[in-house]
Amino acid sequence: MNVEVAVVPAAGRGTRMRPATRVVPKAFIPVVDRPAIQYAVEECVRAGAHEVVLIVDPGVGVLAERHFWEEGPLPGLSDVKITPVVQEVPHGLGHAVLTARQAVADRPFFCVLADNIPRPGGDVLPGMADAFHDTSVVCLRRLTPEFLERYGVIIPGTWRTEEVVEVQGAVEKPGAAHAPSDLGLIGRYLFTPDLFGILENLPPGYGGEIQLTDAISKLGEAGRCLGYVADQDLLDVGNPLGLLEASTVLGLSHPEWGAEYEAYLAGLVDLL
Ligand code: G1P
Repeated sequence: MNVEVAVVPAAGRGTRMRPATRVVPKAFIPVVDRPAIQYAVEECVRAGAHEVVLIVDPGVGVLAERHFWEEGPLPGLSDVKITPVVQEVPHGLGHAVLTARQAVADRPFFCVLADNIPRPGGDVLPGMADAFHDTSVVCLRRLTPEFLERYGVIIPGTWRTEEVVEVQGAVEKPGAAHAPSDLGLIGRYLFTPDLFGILENLPPGYGGEIQLTDAISKLGEAGRCLGYVADQDLLDVGNPLGLLEASTVLGLSHPEWGAEYEAYLAGLVDLL
């Protein structure tokens, strides 16, 4: 299945990254040599998308415009149509995705959260596209108990293959005591456009926000959602320790800086 359009919600305020995000939006925090949002766009393009809708708040919109357009095309992205859509008020991730409705129209679309970056060679979107047969696919990973309060968690149904499971429902950040399984939503989704009709009728959920996880739950209840269990975790650049880890992993594999950085790290280890 070739998915031509992707949505990247990038309007988050980055409270876990204060004070770095007091002025710089979290999507523009640099990781090695480019902002997190650029990794997300590049990942979508590697998976075959040639149109990327960025959901931005008014402040991020100006920066996105300068980064992706005014400074000239970025290598590898010159043929990609990048469309910013402004989310005027922050009503949650589900609300952010709903603002992309007009730009996406009647097409299936990837949804990629810019907080999470795949490890080199660890893309999950192609496996999700392979699992897609006219129903939405959400990417899952088995979580250890302490993560169950930080992620959406699904209610699994029948397993179709070793890595594809029917989703019967989902709960946003249930915590270990209430989690229906250990299968967490890791910020990579492939949605059919019927998601928008569900989102527009959702009441506020966890934290008083319109939650994407609640819409996934409704898709699951209607038998219209599969889960794809990835054997990869993603690098989480939405918190300081995760950003350090991501910078190290991506720095070590950087074609230009990797070797020198590795030598530097080896020297540091010797000092310990
Ligand atoms: C969001 C989603 C959550 C998902 C997580 C993945 O939460 O609401 O369901 O598991 O992304 O990173 P956030 O990290 O924005 O709090």
